[in-house]
Amino acid sequence: MDITILGIESSCDDTSAAVLRNGVLLSNVIAGQEIHRTYGGVIPELASRAHQQNIVPVVDVALKKAGVTMDEIDGVAFTRGPGLLGSLIVGVSFAKGLALARDIPMMEVNHLYGHVLSHFIDLPDRKLPHPRFPFLCLLVSGGNSQILLVKSPKEMEIIGETIDDAAGEAFDKCAKVMGLPYPGGPVIDRLAQEGDPKRFKFAKPAVDGYDYSFSGLKTSFLYFLRDRMAENPDFIEENKADLCASLQATVVDILMNKLIRAARNLDIEDIAVAGGVSANSGLRGAIVREGKKRGWNTFLPELRFTTDNAAMIAVAGYYKYLDNDFATMETAPEARLQNLK
Ligand code: KG4
Repeated sequence: MDITILGIESSCDDTSAAVLRNGVLLSNVIAGQEIHRTYGGVIPELASRAHQQNIVPVVDVALKKAGVTMDEIDGVAFTRGPGLLGSLIVGVSFAKGLALARDIPMMEVNHLYGHVLSHFIDLPDRKLPHPRFPFLCLLVSGGNSQILLVKSPKEMEIIGETIDDAAGEAFDKCAKVMGLPYPGGPVIDRLAQEGDPKRFKFAKPAVDGYDYSFSGLKTSFLYFLRDRMAENPDFIEENKADLCASLQATVVDILMNKLIRAARNLDIEDIAVAGGVSANSGLRGAIVREGKKRGWNTFLPELRFTTDNAAMIAVAGYYKYLDNDFATMETAPEARLQNLK
């Protein structure tokens, strides 16, 4: 019997819906929110209002693109958290309403588990190999930087995480200092292609275990620019590509260092990366390079699955559906990761 899942994602500033049949993705629709560019960051109140406007049409388009009617949906998966509370409420309420109206089960998904499970999305025209459990996943986004030991689709252990800023935040904040548009990560990536990654040296943190820290890098970048700008007001403009390339190389180096150590110490060869920053060309290149050197099986998500999307939520919900692991009507959105199971 076919199992058809509708996935809903609304944790930050993208409203997304996806249809998945037996683990195969039939559609994945994402409505971004341009409004936040004006402010150089996500404004929570504006995000939740935009989700409210977007959610019904986005689900409608996802069903149409998949060629599926609402009658064929067996279960609805939604992001319970972490994320912005006002944004999460929209997706959670939509899922509850749908489950109630259609008398179908709903599956709550930890957004971070969704990112990791993006490696298990099958496509109609090709079935890519999945990582084998247990594997390591470097999860890097605007809000998270973690190394996860993934034991099963529902069991993941955080073995290292940032003690301050996330990797994406480091990109975004440094970009802002250079006067680049938001979000800065992709812009730095693009400018870095033309620059010399060895030209400038920035502070690298010394943090215990597999944990990360990026706030020192941000501060050293800021002070470095302040000093150089005092001598030459055109310093940023004249050295943009080299600054971006050197900054990107530093972030990638920090991320790879701990990942390599974790893989070696835990003797794990299946290594995945996920989250918005996994779109970074420097990081992708470094993972492939190190993987070849160390005999890893490396898993890089397709670019469209690196940022927030409902396909990954649907896949996480699919595994819960197979386990009869359903949410109740008492479920509520949860902004913080610590409070999620
Ligand atoms: O996973 P995601 O869409 O959501 C959040 O957690 O916010 O990640 C967004 C983050 C932003 O910080 C953005 O600058 C970063 O991912 N990002 C990149 C690239 N593409 C997106 N960072 C570096 N290089 C990229 N190519």
